[in-house]
Amino acid sequence: MKKVHVETWGCQMNVADSEKMLSLLHGMNYVLTEDESEADLFLLNTCHIREKAKHKVVSRLGVLREMKKQRPGVKIAVAGCVAQAEGAKLLREAPQIDVLLGPGKIDELPSLLNRSLDSGAPSMATGFKSPEIDAKDTPAADPAPDVVPPTLTGKNEVSRFVNIIQGCNNFCTFCIVPFTRGREISRMPEDILGECRKLLASGAREIMLLGQNVNSYGLDLVDKDLLEPGDRGPFVELLAAVADLPGLERLRFTTSNPHDFTKPLAELFAANPKMGRYMHLPVQSGNDRILEVMRRKVTVEEYRERIRWLREAVPDMAISTDLIVGFPGETDAEFEDTLRLVEEVQYSFVYAFKYSPRKGTAAARMPVQVPEAVMEERLARLNALQDAITIRQNEAEIGRTRDVLFLYESKKTPGVYYGRTEHFRLTRVESSEPLTGQCLSVLITGANKTALVGQL
Ligand code: 5AD
Ligand code: SF4
Repeated sequence: MKKVHVETWGCQMNVADSEKMLSLLHGMNYVLTEDESEADLFLLNTCHIREKAKHKVVSRLGVLREMKKQRPGVKIAVAGCVAQAEGAKLLREAPQIDVLLGPGKIDELPSLLNRSLDSGAPSMATGFKSPEIDAKDTPAADPAPDVVPPTLTGKNEVSRFVNIIQGCNNFCTFCIVPFTRGREISRMPEDILGECRKLLASGAREIMLLGQNVNSYGLDLVDKDLLEPGDRGPFVELLAAVADLPGLERLRFTTSNPHDFTKPLAELFAANPKMGRYMHLPVQSGNDRILEVMRRKVTVEEYRERIRWLREAVPDMAISTDLIVGFPGETDAEFEDTLRLVEEVQYSFVYAFKYSPRKGTAAARMPVQVPEAVMEERLARLNALQDAITIRQNEAEIGRTRDVLFLYESKKTPGVYYGRTEHFRLTRVESSEPLTGQCLSVLITGANKTALVGQL
């Protein structure tokens, strides 16, 4: 048995990819270890979404270079979006890397690793499958795995990720993802359902369907001309089918693009309580000119309409969003529009980022990049506004009874369990009986910015 230390940065898609790579490594007799000193292989699954994410990888590679001087037999594999974006350049700059593979080449990890083990030379694979060949002509391109994919903690976790669509066709002008993850390719519904069934049979209670743009799931599998406005479409059909699987307690999905978000999706929340009462719908900015230059393909008013659909379907729907401050050319007045939208929508949570130019994207070539100090100040104002809203909403939960799906027991304090309410609020409960995996009624007794506290 050899041992692999897996390090994952970035989005949930990367976590799902790391699990898949771990599964492939199991087939090569590697087991997961948390102890770096006994690892034969370091697998770094990297993120390129902002410069800061990339820096973390570069500095980690520096540490591993020093380690490899003491332990020359150790192998280093770099996967993920930095591997795809930097490719051969990264191999030249970091000769300590033995295997480099992009997100489109995950299946090739065993052969790349074997090649490097045999020859001692680095091996690499980047690039993408062709949507036409792989999704339509060979429907079994990404079948449900024979065995339940392992988790990165080595435990049978309550909440599991299932990838439904690769890549993104949207080309928002700030975003590197279409370059690092290629064009959209949907998995076949029966493969997805098969994987979900296996996970539920192994103890999962919540499933999170993943894609960079889940709302366009399946549009590459059907004849789009046959879809009428108002039809449920392949994504909503898939959600409805997964929601019906026995053993499932909660169904979530991420990430949704408002452009492809439809009213039937909002209505499914009302029809199916397993969908919970929470959804993440990234808007990025509250100003029409900025949305246009970002190429988001919706106006602020169209975004508001989608929020209305959701809140008509489920009046107490909790909604979170992503926002970028300091997009090239963003004026003070345009930023104020974002603050106004945040005040108006009353999000349960906001993920706010300073704009980070990504080489090769359209926005990186735009003039008038906003100074760092201005971005800092805008980010601080935005976070302060949202923090107050989040705290107010969390405190309003005190005295209410909520259904909490318990996800894990605290490692530091045994007997303390964490779960999420139907509105996705993190909730802490003490119990002498094990709670993990159960969905139970909890009286909320306390709240702060990050979590609720409750009693069974
Ligand atoms: N700079 C800052 N934030 C970005 N995001 C994507 N690209 C960039 C960028 N270049 C943010 C968006 C997206 C989230 C995943 O990351 O808000 O929704
Ligand atoms: Fe990061 Fe985007 Fe790649 Fe996910 S898809 S790892 S967020 S760059």
